[in-house]
Amino acid sequence: MLEAIRQAVVATVAGALLVSVTPVAAQGQAATAQMTVNGDQPGAHVNREIFTQFAEHLGHGIYEGVWVPPGSKIPNVRGVRTDVLAALKELAVPVVRWPGGCFADEYHWREGVGKKRPVKINTHWGGVTEPNSFGTHEFMHFVQQLGADPYVSGNVGNGSPEEMAEWVEYMTSPAGTLADERGKNGHKAAWKLPYFGIGNELWGCGGNMRAEYAADVTRRYATFIKTPEGTKIAKFASGANTDDYNWTEVMVRETARQIDGITLHYYTVPGSFKNKQSATQFDESGWAETMAKSYRMEELVTKHSAIMDKYDPAKRLWLVVDEWGTWYLNEPGTNPGFLYQQNTVRDAVVAAMNLNIFAKHADRVKMTAIAQMVNVLQAMILTDGAKMLKTPTYHVFHMYKPWQDATNIPIEIKSPWYSKDQWVVPAVTASAVRDKAGQVHIGLANADPNTTITVTTALTGITATTVSGTVLTGGAMNAMNTFDQPNTVVPQPFTGAQLGTGGLTITLPPKSVVVLDLK
Ligand code: AHR
Repeated sequence: MLEAIRQAVVATVAGALLVSVTPVAAQGQAATAQMTVNGDQPGAHVNREIFTQFAEHLGHGIYEGVWVPPGSKIPNVRGVRTDVLAALKELAVPVVRWPGGCFADEYHWREGVGKKRPVKINTHWGGVTEPNSFGTHEFMHFVQQLGADPYVSGNVGNGSPEEMAEWVEYMTSPAGTLADERGKNGHKAAWKLPYFGIGNELWGCGGNMRAEYAADVTRRYATFIKTPEGTKIAKFASGANTDDYNWTEVMVRETARQIDGITLHYYTVPGSFKNKQSATQFDESGWAETMAKSYRMEELVTKHSAIMDKYDPAKRLWLVVDEWGTWYLNEPGTNPGFLYQQNTVRDAVVAAMNLNIFAKHADRVKMTAIAQMVNVLQAMILTDGAKMLKTPTYHVFHMYKPWQDATNIPIEIKSPWYSKDQWVVPAVTASAVRDKAGQVHIGLANADPNTTITVTTALTGITATTVSGTVLTGGAMNAMNTFDQPNTVVPQPFTGAQLGTGGLTITLPPKSVVVLDLK
């Protein structure tokens, strides 16, 4: 039976596996994996942009999460929460994507600048009022305090090319009427705007377009995004949903000359969008389903990249996975339109698995944005009034900081399968990088919640005499941090790796994420 499942999975993701696999160990047993870290082989640059975070006007993602209004008792600097900012700074967040999402294609930037801010309805997310208090100036102030770059998504859905062009001019122009207006509104100097999205999900909430029509619209809007002399804005076309390969084919074929990248959105949704599952109340089948669906990212980036290779063999265009992460049922008692969910060890393993996949595909995957930053979907941070907690996903992003602007080291890994019910996934995913200082780091995720896996690792072209590391795991599959107990799932020193003459032996606990630093 297991062999039949194994064959089925191999067929499903043929050519896309990170790993080759061996039969899974019986429950509770130890198992082994073999890995080679090829430090003598060239690897792609791992862009720090892979650690971008998405912050949408959705629920308490911005309001209360990042920003509080004047007079708030929550400590803040010009509205930006001091506690949230400090926590995010520790992650060295490279880029923040804003204002949506679906919100972007109904967002009119003029309503969010100056003194008069009309109160609108957020038609996508809960039908609540949108005060427009957080607009362009507030966003730019936030990213500047954070030390991150802005990635702004423009309104293609119900905005005009003129409106979009004027927004870009308002943000970036050193002179002219719009620059003067920016100055009157409090910011004389032009902002740096390295990344701009031409709409969002044009196949859905961004306008329900067909790929051919979206390609023409993208060409038109992109034409009028002008940059001041000596500056450059990378323009990203709105890309595919999950496995809509035709969308990527048509968009890349028709827009390659106008754009610098194309996006991809893929969410890990146990159950389905119509029948979502709890973030915290799940059994082992729910765990396994989440792991198997998350691992699908490997197949998706492989296949979308292959299509891009046809039209862009030199790999100039970025594949920008600017929405990824888990999507569960909202927490009981919260507004379903706010997408507020808890975050457990399961999410930590999902995060590490995806980061390992992105590092492997660093030659094409140049930017990704987890959805989302605070209080929405697979968040880094949850807040409750003045309280704040760091989620297990936050801690994984912290552990993987050395991956930012490092060089990928190609690895081979032979992992056992982990399976439960119809869900089958390689238990171990991993990636390795050499940072700018030359230090090697290895990240591993064990998707098996029951089995300790001993990873026998050969190191080629790597001279190391010591290994240290951190591990993130929990007593239960749904171990989580709460406002009362915010430190239940936190990284701990890892002592399960030994360097010997034959290489490295790593004893990987069940349901864990491990990051090793070699010296
Ligand atoms: O991240 C939540 C929503 O998911 C975004 O607004 C949209 O782009 C996607 O469908």
